[in-house]
Amino acid sequence: MPPNNGERLRILDVGCGIRKYPGSIGIDVNPVTAADVICDLDRFPYPFADRTFDALRAIHVIEHLTDVVRTMEEFHRLVKPGGRVRIETPHYTDYSSFCDPTHKHHLNSFSFRYFGEDHGGFGYYTEAKFREIFVRVKLLSFWRWLGFEFLVNRFPRFRKFWEFYLCYLVRGKAMEFEFEPIGPPVPMRRRPAVSQTR
Ligand SMILES: C[S@@+](CC[C@H](N)C(=O)[O-])C[C@H]1O[C@@H](n2cnc3c(N)ncnc32)[C@H](O)[C@@H]1O
Repeated sequence: MPPNNGERLRILDVGCGIRKYPGSIGIDVNPVTAADVICDLDRFPYPFADRTFDALRAIHVIEHLTDVVRTMEEFHRLVKPGGRVRIETPHYTDYSSFCDPTHKHHLNSFSFRYFGEDHGGFGYYTEAKFREIFVRVKLLSFWRWLGFEFLVNRFPRFRKFWEFYLCYLVRGKAMEFEFEPIGPPVPMRRRPAVSQTR
């Protein structure tokens, strides 16, 4: 969470479900949830002005949405400079990642590097940039007891080694990310028609 000078923080809980974060504004497509605003997160923009929130949470939601890049741009637009974006999502080697037929994405602990300082070498995906505050991986309990979770989280190079060579055996469970948006909000992208040529 960003520093608080005694003022009430404005927090957006995206895809809040029935367990909305206390004190937050919840948005969800399903009216049976605790949402304050019903909206389809696959339709942009979300109904809030630029930089409305001090913090945004998307807990086990991003894997359900169609366009991860566009969603991250929207998170970037909605959060104030110095604010925080927290994302939790299953690791793709967890049972839950492929079990739920409404999951559209199966992610790993480097999936958000494309929004980092150098855009993971793919600067043309988006102009939205985030500073990584932390990435934490949770492993299945057996591997946690054996100390793998500590190693994966303590040493980023070991995390990469784990993602490359070990994760189909030493399976992941969930991931927690925290980011700070950097720079101005990204203007709405106009999508080219599929048949458009240069
Ligand atoms: C796995 S639940 C997580 C709920 C909550 N964040 C939690 O941690 O308990 C996913 C939530 O995302 C919502 N959701 C999925 N697709 C959505 C969409 N296109 N627009 C809005 N909400 C969506 C669902 O209605 C559901 O409440």
